[in-house]
Amino acid sequence: MFLTSLLPTLLLALAVSANPIIVNRSPITLPIARRVNVTSVHNLVRHDLSRAKALRARAEAKAGGDFHIDVVISEAVDNQAVTYVAAVGVGSPATTYDLLIDTGSSNTWVGATQNYVRTSTSVQTSNRVSVTYGSGSFSGTEFTDTVTIAPGLVIPTQSIGVASRSVGFDGFDGILGIGPVGLTLGTLSPATNTLIPTVTDNLFSLGTISANQIGISFAPTNTFETLNGELTWGGTDSSKFSGSIGFAPITNTSPSSEFWGINQSVRYGAATTILSNTAGIVDTGTTLLLLASDAITRYRAATGAVPDASTGLLRITAAQFANLQSLFFNINGVTYEFTANAQLWPRALNTAIGGRANNIYLIVSDLGTPSGEGFDFVNGFAFLERFYSVFDTANRRVGFATTPFTRSTIN
Ligand SMILES: *[C@@H]1O[C@H](CO)[C@@H](O)[C@H](O)[C@H]1NC(C)=O
Ligand SMILES: *[C@@H]1O[C@H](CO)[C@@H](O)[C@H](O)[C@H]1NC(C)=O
Repeated sequence: MFLTSLLPTLLLALAVSANPIIVNRSPITLPIARRVNVTSVHNLVRHDLSRAKALRARAEAKAGGDFHIDVVISEAVDNQAVTYVAAVGVGSPATTYDLLIDTGSSNTWVGATQNYVRTSTSVQTSNRVSVTYGSGSFSGTEFTDTVTIAPGLVIPTQSIGVASRSVGFDGFDGILGIGPVGLTLGTLSPATNTLIPTVTDNLFSLGTISANQIGISFAPTNTFETLNGELTWGGTDSSKFSGSIGFAPITNTSPSSEFWGINQSVRYGAATTILSNTAGIVDTGTTLLLLASDAITRYRAATGAVPDASTGLLRITAAQFANLQSLFFNINGVTYEFTANAQLWPRALNTAIGGRANNIYLIVSDLGTPSGEGFDFVNGFAFLERFYSVFDTANRRVGFATTPFTRSTIN
């Protein structure tokens, strides 16, 4: 079987990476577009919560040794209102698909909106594939095909899913899964115990990139569609951040340890602890910054924020905004300041999520579970639009750096 034969290659790549061989290749970048869907009102909060619940349930099942479990979560399906999308070619000649960039899952698949076009490079495997994301899911057949991420970034034989059924993905064609490879366990059947090397793993084992690493640059915006993001394979793009990158090891705490999970603490203003040092995840498939319920209670007490019924977000008054302090994230000894402006939903986009034009909504939202459960926050792209992020598979660590947008007042 093809997939089983890839496994030793992957293990070899992981073993080699402990003593990196320096290959003289430059990192390759791919532009990513940020899109806000305004054609119908989306429930941002419900989307993010359903996702968090499903990611956690799946990781807990896996940590418990049960790769076969099908986590069934019956939440309403909410298409994402805001997405980061990359144009990726599949096949030869390539058909271009708009894929959502997801660090919280690791399967790459197409076919949600635009049908998969078979070419001479398409090979159907005997496996079915399915993944549940909480507010959406897909199932279909696993293929191998040529994937072209950018000129010079081609994987001749990438294992990809081809959806025959998908929900929650209107407006884009599938997912580019760049989470840890372990998240692919249990997604195939009958080959349940098979890992599917991610595009990053394959680019690294092919020698196309010299480091098994990704750098992501997002930026805040108040427009509906803009090409303001960038994904760099095999390194980082120093033009997108300032100063040095602070790294934190992948947390040991389960279930966050299954993801790009880290330990962090969060303080409000000079001295109010919101969250003491605890584990959670970094996730580009989540829009908001989700914190454990007890942390949100403290944040609300400190800011005066109240829940807003029509959007599900927290809301503050203009006077409360004038007094809003920064949040300080301490990640492995480095402090990252998340300004008052960073805590706001872009006001120009209020009506796109069912809010009122003049209200002030916050992107800090309740995760719905208490802290101390090993999954106490999700740093979604509201956080990642303020800090450059690095996902380093070889060294099992996540890095952050400040950017020209860290202190932006764009909201
Ligand atoms: C926007 O969302 C609606 C409802 O979820 C969906 O039907 C539509 O295809 C989406 N459009 C785009 C451009 O994403
Ligand atoms: C993270 O925090 C947990 C306890 O909260 C601790 O056991 C662990 O050593 C910390 N560091 C890492 C890398 O997991």
